[in-house]
Amino acid sequence: MGVYNITVLKGDGIGPDIVSEAMNVLEAIGKKYGHTFNFNEKAVGGCAIDEFGVPLPDDTLEACKNCDSILLGAVGGPKWDHLPSHLRPEAGALLKLRSSLGLYANLRPAIIHKALSAASPIKAEIIGDSLDILVVRELTGGIYFGERGYREGKYGQEAFDVEAYSEYEVKRIAKQAFEAAMKRNKKVTSVDKANVLESSKLWRKVVTEVAKDYPEVELDHMYVDNAAMQLVRNPKHFDVIVTSNIFGDIISDEASQITGSIGMLPSASLAEGTFGMYEPIHGSAPDIAGMDIANPIATILSASMMLKFSFGLIEEAEDIENAVTAVLDKGYRTPDIYVDGTTKVGTKEMGRLICENI
Ligand code: IPM
Ligand code: MG
Repeated sequence: MGVYNITVLKGDGIGPDIVSEAMNVLEAIGKKYGHTFNFNEKAVGGCAIDEFGVPLPDDTLEACKNCDSILLGAVGGPKWDHLPSHLRPEAGALLKLRSSLGLYANLRPAIIHKALSAASPIKAEIIGDSLDILVVRELTGGIYFGERGYREGKYGQEAFDVEAYSEYEVKRIAKQAFEAAMKRNKKVTSVDKANVLESSKLWRKVVTEVAKDYPEVELDHMYVDNAAMQLVRNPKHFDVIVTSNIFGDIISDEASQITGSIGMLPSASLAEGTFGMYEPIHGSAPDIAGMDIANPIATILSASMMLKFSFGLIEEAEDIENAVTAVLDKGYRTPDIYVDGTTKVGTKEMGRLICENI
């Protein structure tokens, strides 16, 4: 019976719709298992720009630093797209949260639920009736946070961004991947570009070193271009993929797309220790905000990841996963995953059904 302090960042667009349902689900878990979840709501993203002039107000960042974990909805929208990148909700808020909170390990599962296997754009004979890949993306290093700038080059002004990785950074993300693999199918594919990049050569060397501590886990290395190809050609090859910040950005989008239902996919961004930030991988979908049609499942499953990774509440986390599966098996669908013969429900009703199955 624990007390957990969660900073809630609903954000923009459908953020408030979906996060409210995840909060209801946490309340239901709290009631069943005797836990207390204290929610502290703060502004982030475009709505924070409108209210305070910045996408990540100091007060929000302070709250994020002084809690047990963060539940985030989505940020951004066309209204703020014209702003310079450091002020835009996506980069301005997300990148700053990641670096200030040391959220170096980004876990992005790409899971196809049996009930939704027909939604995958990949042929049934390749995908089978389910798929379960975990992308472990390094999140606070590499080209996203490297030296950058402008300089005079041979042909006039040029811009540059440096991709640099330390052994320390590679080692800790590799460990995350191997630890995750130990709880799954014991296979890690490390994705790099070691045929060209020095940073990838170091990456490969360090990952190979770390693998020695996990003799049960099978490790293979794949160049990123090949990995992009194999993900659609033979996705069953993969169990855990570990890769750099920028490759992970791209590969995780590809992996999510092959599930065919990005409204279903959660993510966790973890710091050292138990602290983490949890959010759906999809965006803010401003065109359907407030209409009670967005799919809350990705956010609800993000709350489940929070229980598992930050609070160590494994049974409670699985309770949420099972409730989601049960509701899908009973044929309930939000419009994004609706097909003939199923029952269409809105955001709130989907949230209520999942609570009812807990
Ligand atoms: C993501 C997003 C972000 C990233 C953007 C919005 C800065 O694409 O979380 O994958 O590139 O990391
Ligand atoms: Mg991305």
